[in-house]
Amino acid sequence: MTEQMRALRAERRGGPEQLTIDTIAVPSPGPGETLIEVHAAAITFAELTWDETWMHTPAIPGHEFSGVVADVADDVTDVSVGDEVFGLIRFELQGAAADYVVVPAADLARKPTRLSHAETAVLPLAALTAWQALFDVAHVSAGDRVLVHGGAGGVGIFAVQLARLAGATVTTTVRGDGVALASTLGADHIIDTDTADFTADFAAAGRRFDVVIDTIGGDTLHRSFDVIVEGGRLVTLQEPPDQARASSLGITATFFIVAPDVTELNYLAGLADRAELTVVLAATFPLGEGRAAFESGRGTHRPPGKTVLLVRP
Ligand SMILES: NC(=O)c1ccc[n+]([C@@H]2O[C@H](COP(=O)([O-])OP(=O)(O)OC[C@H]3O[C@@H](n4cnc5c(N)ncnc54)[C@H](OP(=O)(O)O)[C@@H]3O)[C@@H](O)[C@H]2O)c1
Repeated sequence: MTEQMRALRAERRGGPEQLTIDTIAVPSPGPGETLIEVHAAAITFAELTWDETWMHTPAIPGHEFSGVVADVADDVTDVSVGDEVFGLIRFELQGAAADYVVVPAADLARKPTRLSHAETAVLPLAALTAWQALFDVAHVSAGDRVLVHGGAGGVGIFAVQLARLAGATVTTTVRGDGVALASTLGADHIIDTDTADFTADFAAAGRRFDVVIDTIGGDTLHRSFDVIVEGGRLVTLQEPPDQARASSLGITATFFIVAPDVTELNYLAGLADRAELTVVLAATFPLGEGRAAFESGRGTHRPPGKTVLLVRP
């Protein structure tokens, strides 16, 4: 195996302008670890703003990947060289925007056979976040009325679908091309925020959602408190919500950070293999154009879905 590889890296904290393609040594797996030949790594535009991304510099982004096991440590027995795998890389470790990445064997799931590596790469962070928000945190079940904010985004696309699969009635806020997409995902009610306000019928309908999954934050998070029934659950992905306000309304409000969970990833892979879960790619870029990939996240009304770096097209 070659001892050098390409990696998309940032020497110091900042935006996409910090990213360069560097040639660095291929890392070696330590005890319990594997070396993965990365085929595709998905990016989350906001990851360059997360403190966790900058725990080690130079930092390699892209913490969700699909690839092939290239090497394993002596003590690894449950995966083998040549296995097709995918996974979420813990945020304190280096990301997968590189030819190779070291990943603990315990964090590897089996790649769904129906999906390409590029399609698979969007599951670990985006779909797992949606799963954990809906089921591990909000305990959504059949009949719940769920509002998903940002239903055309990386996480939101999966949150809409997974909530529907669980038998919930799903309302989602979207805009631009997301409006057309949301109906194909099975959303029961679609609110185009370019023309409507999700709190607009609050006065008439009152608090009407059992669960809100907020992928947008800011003012959207702030106003979401008012539409949740007493005993309901608010889950937000950006910042810790106001606990005093939550308790005065009789709701729970939770911020959490997604964590690797191979059982959940294998379940999501099964849904994808049975065509019960749709994957939407906004765009693909070769690894060498990683900076442009992150720059494509600027602005609003972007194409729905996730952006993926193709490492071995
Ligand atoms: N805590 C965690 O573990 C965790 C995990 C994953 C992600 N996150 C966070 O969750 C957030 C979402 O991540 P993501 O990957 O899903 O991002 P994303 O792909 O950028 O999706 C966000 C979506 O929200 C839409 N949106 C924004 N404002 C809107 C509005 N006012 N009305 C309707 N739609 C609106 C965006 O549309 P436009 O293109 O029109 O703006 C986009 O479709 C990010 O802040 C990320 O940092 C947290």
